[in-house]
Amino acid sequence: MSTLPGTPAGTASSTLIDNIGHLVTNDPSLGSSPDGSPLGVVRDAAVVTEGDRVVWTGMSRKAPATDNRVDAGGRAMLPGFVDSHTHLVFAGDRTEEFNARMSGRPYTAGGIRTTVAATRAATDAELEANLVRHLTEALRQGTTTVETKSGYGLTVEDEARSLRIAARHTREVTYLGAHIVAPEHADDPAAYVELVTGGMLDACAPHARWVDVFCERGAFDGDQARAILTAGRERGLVPRVHANQLGHGPGVRLAVELDAASADHCTHLSDADVDALASSGGRTVATLLPGAEFSTRAEWPDARRLLDAGVTVALSTDCNPGSSYTSSMGFCVALAVRDMGMTPDEAVWAATAGGAAALRRADVGRITPGARADLLLLDAPSHVHLAYRPGVPLVAGVWRGGVREV
Ligand code: NIG
Ligand code: FE
Repeated sequence: MSTLPGTPAGTASSTLIDNIGHLVTNDPSLGSSPDGSPLGVVRDAAVVTEGDRVVWTGMSRKAPATDNRVDAGGRAMLPGFVDSHTHLVFAGDRTEEFNARMSGRPYTAGGIRTTVAATRAATDAELEANLVRHLTEALRQGTTTVETKSGYGLTVEDEARSLRIAARHTREVTYLGAHIVAPEHADDPAAYVELVTGGMLDACAPHARWVDVFCERGAFDGDQARAILTAGRERGLVPRVHANQLGHGPGVRLAVELDAASADHCTHLSDADVDALASSGGRTVATLLPGAEFSTRAEWPDARRLLDAGVTVALSTDCNPGSSYTSSMGFCVALAVRDMGMTPDEAVWAATAGGAAALRRADVGRITPGARADLLLLDAPSHVHLAYRPGVPLVAGVWRGGVREV
């Protein structure tokens, strides 16, 4: 790859990335997709960036003149992955719990307590260093947008500091005071819900964009979840819901009713749940998290059923030390194709444009003029290799906001 000299300092220089053999734009009007693929693939393509934006996308031979040039060597390029569901503000790990699970013990959310204890004991600097370590790990694997949550503090101060730290690194910050009932309130869950909707929300709302609830047996029921999401909404936070991971329940329908941006997990769905998601017209995205099923040896969510019903689907890692300790979106794409009934095109769309939809973002998850220049160059001839070559490090380059990071 070559880079030619740039322009004088102070002006936003333009960069042409050309000789892209296979460019996934996620704009079907740009690509030739006789099979109706949403990926808008352009062959022999080029992209022009200026500052932090894409300003031109098309066939290499029609590209405009620019200040700099990068030769993509005929490789494939796609939008940087949008990981719309992670839990990265934590300390410690849960290797022993994973080990026990692989010897047959089932996953329960009870292990969250272990991480809560470690997180409370950590300093701000330790939490931030751990967060940055995981964000860097994700970036090296092609993830350029990350949502992350609190939920391992569960006191006013520990939740607020988790969000403050997260907000230094991403604008997609989610208040998850309702992850589990805090251990010291175990005998009085109603008092904990009062705290989550009262003093804790006051301290947390200024640092977050989203509010989330783990609506599941053993965590929060439908009424509690409704109270928490509604209180968050009144403070300007937009709902998203952990729903129907461990069993059937009201979470998915509640998410649609409250116009949540996403219902996450969606492993155990009734026909009414699927109908509700479809009727939202893409407002409530079904975010599937195959790393969790992989790492807990649980039943896979049925992506095919959702797609066939017209539901908008996103894929995310759910990266957390308990149920899914992977930051690899490529791995999740491979699992979704192998075990959840998605085609490679659908899975790559879900990991990019789908994640953007789950974050209600129009500026990421696509490579078209006006989008952020978040680009992933693969050491492969097409996006299909993400599923075809699972576990292989295929990242040849990553640009975030027009800056080459990898
Ligand atoms: O999305 N279920 C709630 N939260 C996480 C699990 C967190 C944990 O086990 O530490 C999830 O799977
Ligand atoms: Fe989660």
